[in-house]
Amino acid sequence: MGNVTGSVDLAGMERLQYDYSSALMPQDRPDSFTMWRYRKLLPGADGPVRYPMPIGGTPLLPAPALRQTLGMPRLWIKDETRNPTASNKDRATALVIEDGLRNGKDTITTASTGNAAIATAFGAAAAGVRAVIFVSTDCQPTKLALMAQAGAWVFRVPDGYAAAVDLSRGAARTFGWLDRNTGANPLTIEAKKTVAFEVWEQLGRRLPDVMIAPVGDGPTLVALDKGFAELVSCGLTTRQPRLIGVQAEHCQPLVRAWLGMAPGPAELDPAATLADGIAVVRPAIGDAVLEAVRGSGGAMTAVTERALLSAVATLAGEAGVGAEPAGAAALAGLESAVEGGLVDRLETVVLLVTGRETKAGGRPAEPSRSAVVETLDEVQRVLEGNR
Ligand SMILES: Cc1ncc(COP(=O)(O)O)c(C=O)c1O
Repeated sequence: MGNVTGSVDLAGMERLQYDYSSALMPQDRPDSFTMWRYRKLLPGADGPVRYPMPIGGTPLLPAPALRQTLGMPRLWIKDETRNPTASNKDRATALVIEDGLRNGKDTITTASTGNAAIATAFGAAAAGVRAVIFVSTDCQPTKLALMAQAGAWVFRVPDGYAAAVDLSRGAARTFGWLDRNTGANPLTIEAKKTVAFEVWEQLGRRLPDVMIAPVGDGPTLVALDKGFAELVSCGLTTRQPRLIGVQAEHCQPLVRAWLGMAPGPAELDPAATLADGIAVVRPAIGDAVLEAVRGSGGAMTAVTERALLSAVATLAGEAGVGAEPAGAAALAGLESAVEGGLVDRLETVVLLVTGRETKAGGRPAEPSRSAVVETLDEVQRVLEGNR
C-alpha cells in the first residue's frame, strides 16, 4: 500500500499525506474493480488484502430518464448503494478493519446513526472480529435488527448520538479496541476519498464541474475534497469540482454556519427528519466541511422533508436507484441548487447517492447482545456477564 509521508491537522483529526506523483494512480482500464485499486494512495503495508468483502468500484450511472426530466444532459449518479451493506460506510469500515487485522485487533467499535453500524457489524462478521456498536435509543428498529443479526453487540444510549460517540470513543481508549468512529479515525477519510478517484476515472479521467453529497458528521464530503485535491497533487488534473453539501432542514447546523446564522431549535431537531444518516447536531468535522466547500467554490444547502421524499421517489422511478432519505439528499439538494443559481443545467454534475434502506430477513437476532447503557462500567458488566 502507499507510504504515508506525514500528516496535518484536520479539525483535530490527522490528515494523511503521501509522496504524490502520477505513478500512484493505476493506468489500466479494468471492467470491474474495488477500492483496493487505489492502494498506493491508501495507508498500510504491502501484501495481500485481508478484508474479505469486495468494496467500492460502484457504478457511475448516466440515468437517461432523469436527465431528460431535469433537462440536465450531463447528470450522473454515483451509486454507493451497491456496496455490500448498501451504503458508502462500507469503504471506511473495510479500511479500518484491514488495519485492525494487520495489528492483531479482535474488537472494533463505532457509534453510528445507523449505516456505519450496519457496515461495521457485517464487516466484522466477515472478518471474524467482534463488533461493539453504540447508537441512540432513537435508532431505527430495522437498522438495529440488521446489526444484531450480524452478531454485533449493540448498546443503545438514551442521550442520543453525541453521547453514543463519547461512549464508543471512551471504550476504544479504555479497552484498546479498534476505533472506527467517523471523523475520529483518519482512515475513514482515506477510504471514502476513493469515491473521488473512481468518479474521475469513470468520467474518462475527467472531473465533474459539481459534486453534491449529503453531510452528517462530514467525512463523506471532506473525503471527496481530499480525493480531488490528491488528483491535483499527483499532477493528474489542475482543478477541483465545486462541492455542494446537503443537510435536512430540520437538522442543518452546517448550513446555518455557512450562512453565518445561529440555528434555531427547529433546525437542530434530529428526530424531526427521516434523513437519520445526516441528522447530526454536532458534526464531528464540521469546520473541515465548511473549509472544503468554501475552498472548492461550492455551497451548503438545506432541503425539506418533502423534497427528500420526492427525491427518493424520483431516484426509484426515473433512475431505478433505491435510496433512503439521507441517501437521496443529493438529488433534493440539486433541485434547490439549480433554483438558487448555484448549478447550471448544462454542467457535468455528479450526485452521490450514499445509502439504501435494507431489510433484515430470517430469524430474529439474539436479544442478549443488546442493552441500554449510559456508562462504560455498564458496558463492561454486560460484556463480562456474557462471556
Ligand atoms: C445514507 C447516509 N448518507 C450520508 C451520511 C453522512 O455521511 P457523513 O457522516 O460522512 O457526513 C450518512 C451517515 O451516516 C448516511 O448514513
